[in-house]
Amino acid sequence: MCGIVGYIGDGNAKDIIIDGLKKLEYRGYDSAGIAVYKDGKLEIRKRRGRIVNLEEAISNEDLQSGLGIGHTRWATHGAPSELNSHPHSNADNTVAVVHNGIIENFAELREWLSKEYGIVFRSETDTEVIAQLIGIYYDGDLLDAVYRAVDKMRGAYAIGVICSKEPDKLIAVRKESPLVIGLGTDCNFIASDIPALLKYVRELYLLENNETAVLTRNAVVIYDAERKSVKRDVLHVTWDAAAAEKEGYDHFMMKEIHEQPKGISETLNRRLTPEGEIVLDGISLTKENLENFNKIYIVACGTAYHAGLVGKFAIEKLARIPVEVDVASEFRYRDPFVDDKTLFIAISQSGETLDTLAALREAKKKGARILSVVNVVGSSVARESDDVFYTWAGPEIAVASTKAYTTQLVCMYLIALYMGRLKGTLSKAECDKYIGELKSIPEKLERILEKEADIEEIAKQLYKTEQVFFIGRGPDSGVSYEGSLKLKEISYINSFAIAAGELKHGTIALIEQGTLVVALATQDRLFEKMLSNIQEVKARGAYVMGIAKEGNTDIEKQSDCVIYIPDCMDEVSPLLAVVPLQLLAYYIAKLRGCDIDKPKNLAKSVTVE
Ligand code: F6R
Repeated sequence: MCGIVGYIGDGNAKDIIIDGLKKLEYRGYDSAGIAVYKDGKLEIRKRRGRIVNLEEAISNEDLQSGLGIGHTRWATHGAPSELNSHPHSNADNTVAVVHNGIIENFAELREWLSKEYGIVFRSETDTEVIAQLIGIYYDGDLLDAVYRAVDKMRGAYAIGVICSKEPDKLIAVRKESPLVIGLGTDCNFIASDIPALLKYVRELYLLENNETAVLTRNAVVIYDAERKSVKRDVLHVTWDAAAAEKEGYDHFMMKEIHEQPKGISETLNRRLTPEGEIVLDGISLTKENLENFNKIYIVACGTAYHAGLVGKFAIEKLARIPVEVDVASEFRYRDPFVDDKTLFIAISQSGETLDTLAALREAKKKGARILSVVNVVGSSVARESDDVFYTWAGPEIAVASTKAYTTQLVCMYLIALYMGRLKGTLSKAECDKYIGELKSIPEKLERILEKEADIEEIAKQLYKTEQVFFIGRGPDSGVSYEGSLKLKEISYINSFAIAAGELKHGTIALIEQGTLVVALATQDRLFEKMLSNIQEVKARGAYVMGIAKEGNTDIEKQSDCVIYIPDCMDEVSPLLAVVPLQLLAYYIAKLRGCDIDKPKNLAKSVTVE
């Protein structure tokens, strides 16, 4: 959500920034802009829509400069217009600011700046308030002006600032919104995410909350909130820049669907000894801890929340501890029953989702122990947790989450198995059986990917539909929610997921001739019940696409088409059952001509409330 790139050095800031912004496109945005220092002035250019619009608009301009900041904006305050795009500047255009996040007291500050200083605002944004504040406080010391401005601001933000009166520096501030600093030779960078910088640097500093960094061509100094300089370890990025490229696939989403077998193996390998024992290195969950917990909350948003729904089934079944799953934006406002007997599990791909972070903090304040399941190493959720279980899916670029979901599921199974063994609710033999099943998933998943062409054919018959229902029972109901979300977010088809048994309590009224129903029937013990639910919708004219395990061919009698997944234990079937649904959503979206990797209105990392 919004992207920042800044550069200071001997290179051409404009090209480096545009290139970096393109790497951040996955975060979602609706306009882009850049400010560079040139001939004693700040030159600011902005365009609505894609970065290429901006690139084309400035392609013939001589904006050669060694200092600049750029931004992709995802509108919050004010419509996605050129005027509201970043960078924003102060009254005399000597200070330019790019900003991610939200300034909560911006209306108050705006009024104060207008009344006290006669500032006339040019945009509707909260960001312009920052630029104007720095402008009025500037008295020959940019760092001082930034500190004074930040002192007035409430909210969550990451900002980049340049000033035509001090063209030898680039200043960055972080509060809640992520910001990294790239350390080059005779140049330094800022960015809201690592992929933006990998072409240029591998050594980074991760800025912490309430820290300010002053970047010059040859140095980076980080200061804390009291303006004392702080030391920071250099993070050396080992993953390849290619990990953030499409590698021949049409879309990142498809590439990431195909990376799932590898991601799952990696997640398992990191936590299993060659003998198949689960090792939770760095996670200090003891038998006593577990006995102390009387409940577990799993809290997350979107796809990560859906992983939590399956996690609940796994933990309750294998470790026999009551689990509640909640969406983070609700959890934090409902005064939940949390105390020191609560284990709070946060699930997040980005580790920066504001609602999840806020819920985590709420639980921590009340004494809960925090375990997080996170993909991005060093992210805010990871840093604020007592224990972290990384998913090792590699960078996920497509807005629609796929490999993060399946690796999150693997983590939830491993946590459930580990707890079950620790508590004694699961025998060694049973645990070994589950581990064996998990280890077989990558190969089984490859077999589903081989059916890609079949799913594409089904998509060709179905892509014009305007309404879809996903139904399932037990762990399949969690997968239904995920399948429905995938479809609606990338194809914009109105889709709805519901526990199959709940259908008859109202929603079945919507089923009519030709309504598409995707029925997940991968649970052996619930298979017959699902067949009855399928019959109920068939009787009302639905077109049914069934998902079942190989061998359960009875489903063919009630369905119009069926995709089989390899046989597996019921508990782990979500790892396989979700894959045809990801592929179905992908092909339907493609046939409808949708922007698959960057769906409208969506952002990869949701850092606002
Ligand atoms: C959907 C999707 C979102 C995210 C949600 C949480 O495909 O990606 O629903 O799952 O915004 O994001 P994280 O996992 O980064 O906290």
